[in-house]
Amino acid sequence: NKGNYEHYMQKEIHEQPESLRTTMRGRLIRGGSSKAKTVLLGGLKDHIKSIRRSRRIVFIGCGTSYNAALAARPILEELSGVPVTMEIASDLLDRQGPIYREDTAVFVSQSGETADSLLALEYALENGALCVGITNTVGSAIARNTHCGVHINAGCEIGVASTKAYTSQIVVMAMLALAIGDDTISSRTRRDAIIDGLFDLPNKVREVLKLDQEMKDLAKLLIAEQSLLVFGRGYNYATALEGALKVKEVALMHSEGILAGEMKHGPLALVDENLPIIVIATRDTCFSKQQSVIQQLHARKGRLIVMCSKGYAASVCSGGSCRVIEVPQVEDCLQPVVNIVPLQLLAYHLTVLRGYNVDQPRNLAKSVTTL
Ligand code: UD1
Ligand code: M6R
Repeated sequence: NKGNYEHYMQKEIHEQPESLRTTMRGRLIRGGSSKAKTVLLGGLKDHIKSIRRSRRIVFIGCGTSYNAALAARPILEELSGVPVTMEIASDLLDRQGPIYREDTAVFVSQSGETADSLLALEYALENGALCVGITNTVGSAIARNTHCGVHINAGCEIGVASTKAYTSQIVVMAMLALAIGDDTISSRTRRDAIIDGLFDLPNKVREVLKLDQEMKDLAKLLIAEQSLLVFGRGYNYATALEGALKVKEVALMHSEGILAGEMKHGPLALVDENLPIIVIATRDTCFSKQQSVIQQLHARKGRLIVMCSKGYAASVCSGGSCRVIEVPQVEDCLQPVVNIVPLQLLAYHLTVLRGYNVDQPRNLAKSVTTL
């Protein structure tokens, strides 16, 4: 049921304040007499210690689910103290890459039925790793065959382009980082800030959804383009990959997410006054580096659209020389949840304006159950 919306993708984008709330329901605890703030993931409670003791956490997934894990990687590294590596399921299988008994392998999948991820799960089980699932589908193959896991509880997602599952996956993995991380005095302030940030995240997502019309206007400008680049780094490298994936899969426009730190190692050659480039430059520890990326793109007359934190338009783009998307600022590790929303809206509007099928893009299936 699409309710008042024209398409499922549109409905699922706008539903995110609610889906995020359901994802967190009963799992974030604040207040009480001790005023302690904690995270409780029922599905992991008997396994948290083993995960904390593992030598490595390996995230495994495909497409958007892989991108969600990539977005959560920095906070997991920071809070858990355990090395975190990333595997695209098919690539892990192609290489028969190393998975050890001492590893925790985390399988991220909206459907829980993706063939590549399932085969990778079999492989990790054979290799003796502790296998954890993060899925949206109760009773799915990944939920059944992992040792333990967390349901993201985002609600049924129908549009082939994954939107609300992506943001809920990131939130679950941020909660996972809090659950694994030691609750020491030295980490208290940081942990509390993240938990407060999680509580307030649905409101911030509601706020960023107000950019809908602005993104439709931007889509009108980009409607006839051949290509669109998206630059990001740090917490928002994943945002660049995921924004580009949305644009290519539904709007059928070539789009590439680029790690900004790699700009001078090739992509800079593409820059001219015609190719549109979105640069994600919200406030975090990478901000000054992104400012210098923007300057260098400017020097090559790049056609820039900069995503920045509210109030920072003048620091990313002087003299109105580029278009700006201002988003609410949240705790750095949660910023990818806010930043992806305008790009989801852009992909949606581009698709409708270009006259393509939003909910069922050509050649794609919601759940890729064949190899
Ligand atoms: C569970 C209930 C929820 C109830 C809550 C009350 C289910 C599905 N969930 O939620 O309805 O409100 O207790 O405390 O009945 N699992 C895997 N692999 C996965 C995902 C999950 O093995 O990929 C396992 C978990 O380890 C757990 C079970 O499935 O044993 C349920 O997981 P989850 O729904 O996340 O647990 P709760 O949040 O505790
Ligand atoms: O169900 P899964 O999360 O395992 O699916 C993985 C990918 O097939 C999926 O995310 C795909 O990339 C989406 N169409 C992206 O929007």
